Amino acid sequence: MKIAQRLRRRILSVSSLVVATAALAQPPRGGGPAPAPAPPAVQAPAPQPGPGPAPQGPAPAPVQEIAPRTGLGSPLGGLTDAQLAAFLDGRADFRTAETVAGGLGPIFNDVSCVACHDAGGTGGASRRTVTRFGRTVNGVFDPLDAQGGSLLQERSINPGIREVVPREANTVARRVTTPLFGAGLIEAIPDSTIVRGTLERKPAGIAGKVSVVQDPVSGQNRVGRFGWKAQQATLLAFSGDAYVNEMGITNRFFPAENAPNGNAALLARFDRVAEVEDEVSAIDGKADIDRAADFMRLLAPPPRGPATPSAVAGAAIFARLDCAVCHTPAMTTGRHAIAALSEKTVGLYSDLLLHDMGALGDGIAQGTAGARDMRTAPLWGLRSRPTWLHDGRANTIDQAVRGHAGEAQHSRDRYVALSPAERQQVLDFLNTL
Ligand code: HEC
Ligand code: HEC
Repeated sequence: MKIAQRLRRRILSVSSLVVATAALAQPPRGGGPAPAPAPPAVQAPAPQPGPGPAPQGPAPAPVQEIAPRTGLGSPLGGLTDAQLAAFLDGRADFRTAETVAGGLGPIFNDVSCVACHDAGGTGGASRRTVTRFGRTVNGVFDPLDAQGGSLLQERSINPGIREVVPREANTVARRVTTPLFGAGLIEAIPDSTIVRGTLERKPAGIAGKVSVVQDPVSGQNRVGRFGWKAQQATLLAFSGDAYVNEMGITNRFFPAENAPNGNAALLARFDRVAEVEDEVSAIDGKADIDRAADFMRLLAPPPRGPATPSAVAGAAIFARLDCAVCHTPAMTTGRHAIAALSEKTVGLYSDLLLHDMGALGDGIAQGTAGARDMRTAPLWGLRSRPTWLHDGRANTIDQAVRGHAGEAQHSRDRYVALSPAERQQVLDFLNTL
């Protein structure tokens, strides 16, 4: 966002921040440690004296909005006041609808992060999909870079420049929005922990490889872990990527706009806002991409449901069927400057590796990930998702398991061969994650 706009919005948001911080001090409804009651991190501005009726105080924010009954969308427990303020400030950016004057477009997919990430709470998944395209010849995938691939931007600030899937494309895939709850914990898992997962002995037919990506933030090679193809290693990198590719907001890591189907002349005609659009604020040294990353990093993981006898029985079957070989129950974060992320157990149910999923793969090669490779989807928070599998094709969790193929074929077949009662136990277990 341009600085002038940000200043206007900040003034509006300060009073709601104070109310929100106070609301956060209420006892939590969901599981997880209680945030310590704390004074508001930001002082309320004194009411402006002036003519007319006395200004109304801000309406009390419903606690519901801050800490939904499910706990989804809440900040991590044990944050400092400053971290809580960063969470709320970041969430405001995550919810902000970008404008054309602020740099939206010329081509884009939606106007805000929350437009797609909202199921169960701000930061959630949704049914929204984005489209990827390319051309596959003799098994080799070409992302058709010169024609605006592989990600389609399906909206535009002017109807004349809308991007379309080019005729050359013979591979088209949809990818559904993933949830961000607990993303900071996933980010804080050391690369070496994920690499170790490739060295373990596995049942016949199951392998798994690390996604190696060049992190645009550090310039270093890192282990990718975010996205269906594990295509980014850090939340700041994904934030910069999403700002430019989903909203058309250029930023310091991604300073170039996407040209509609690669047409530079069209871009030049319609791109009216100078790069870089996401400016660093002199007030706090942050740009929008940093704030959105703060919000995602400090989001609490999904709360676990109660371990009923059926769920406990299902967990044992889950392990017996080798589901847990890929969906490894937990990893541990390394040392972290944020205490709430430091040396914590992360119950994500994923090895964060790429697996050859055979016919379930989406046909799009991206970085280390080949056309059939997909990242083991973390299973935490499964029950709050509107739809499952990378393109949202599964309307139930049962369908998602039945959709497994490739390295997971054997495991899937054994699931299908269970008695209905045992299958229900597995589903009862999955519904507690
Ligand atoms: C048009 C819908 C849309 C918008 C807008 C959008 N996203 Fe996403 N987001 C997605 C989809 C779809 C995926 C999965 C994409 C993939 O893996 O290729 C995703 C994945 C992610 C992930 C990876 C999470 C994980 O665990 O794998 C992050 C992080 C993310 N988005 C952040 C953001 C941020 C920050 C914004 C705003 C700047 C944003 N997104 C805007 C649809 C959207
Ligand atoms: C070889 C590794 C592997 C094994 C074994 C495996 N999975 Fe998966 N699982 C994956 C991958 C990869 C995905 C994402 C696939 C996609 O959507 O393209 C996934 C997705 C899922 C999903 C959907 C998650 C979502 O976010 O949509 C569920 C549910 C699931 N697995 C449960 C199971 C169960 C139950 C078993 C055992 C019967 C199992 N998996 C065995 C790798 C595996």
